[in-house]
Amino acid sequence: MPLPALQMVEQKIGRQIRLLEIKKGIIERKIGKQIRLFEQKRDGIGKKIEKQIKQFELRRGIRLDDEVRFIRSWIERPLSIGAVTPSGKVLARTMARYVDPSSDGPVVELGPGTGPITEALVESGVAPSRLVLVEFNPAFCRILKARYPDATLVQGDAYSLRRLLETLLIQPAAAVVSGLPLVTKPIRERWRLIRDAFDLMVPGAPFVQFTYSVAAPLPKRLGGFTVEASERIWMNLPPARVWVYRRP
Ligand SMILES: C[S@@+](CC[C@H](N)C(=O)[O-])C[C@H]1O[C@@H](n2cnc3c(N)ncnc32)[C@H](O)[C@@H]1O
Repeated sequence: MPLPALQMVEQKIGRQIRLLEIKKGIIERKIGKQIRLFEQKRDGIGKKIEKQIKQFELRRGIRLDDEVRFIRSWIERPLSIGAVTPSGKVLARTMARYVDPSSDGPVVELGPGTGPITEALVESGVAPSRLVLVEFNPAFCRILKARYPDATLVQGDAYSLRRLLETLLIQPAAAVVSGLPLVTKPIRERWRLIRDAFDLMVPGAPFVQFTYSVAAPLPKRLGGFTVEASERIWMNLPPARVWVYRRP
């Protein structure tokens, strides 16, 4: 191709590239605007919910601080929180019932949130100093620290249980109680978590997990553990069931 023709082709390509860059910039700005609009809407909804809760509290003369914090966290990270409100008392007490307060060793709670199950455990006779609370939400950690100063609080990812607790636990745990939204994780990760939990516990100790879903959080076919389940707890929003796994 003669040189002038080549230069013309180059100029054409250059123009196309500049046009594409302009278009890309416009699309990026549009997407950015949509994201900002979505975030504003989300914040707006969050504020509206909080306002309604405050009005409800004023009318009834009660405090729903925990629920507000929970809803706020859920709005920010729905999948990792896994619930819109903290567990109710009936569910929390059912969870605690599977832990023998006279057993020996620490009681590990995964995903304690604002602490309804923690409270049930303490009510049932587990000394707060035996509790090891693993929670990654900093706002929930602040609440737990204020409410359970004698418990050991670990701010971290419960799915790295072995790394978090291996050196921290000076004796095998008597139970692991989990409020994690386990079913949002792939089965392989759930299996790794329960295996690590079993390794940190005395043989036969319970891994207690609640779930809103109909299916078991860990299918029996995985093997290597025994399974028992509570009745469905209708007095909870949403209704839930407690599953207990033990490695003989
Ligand atoms: C369904 S809520 C249950 C909270 C509380 N146990 C209750 O029953 O009300 C799940 C909790 O697990 C925590 N969580 C979720 N993923 C976690 C992770 N990978 N490590 C630690 N905590 C986690 C959330 O921050 C939240 O507090």
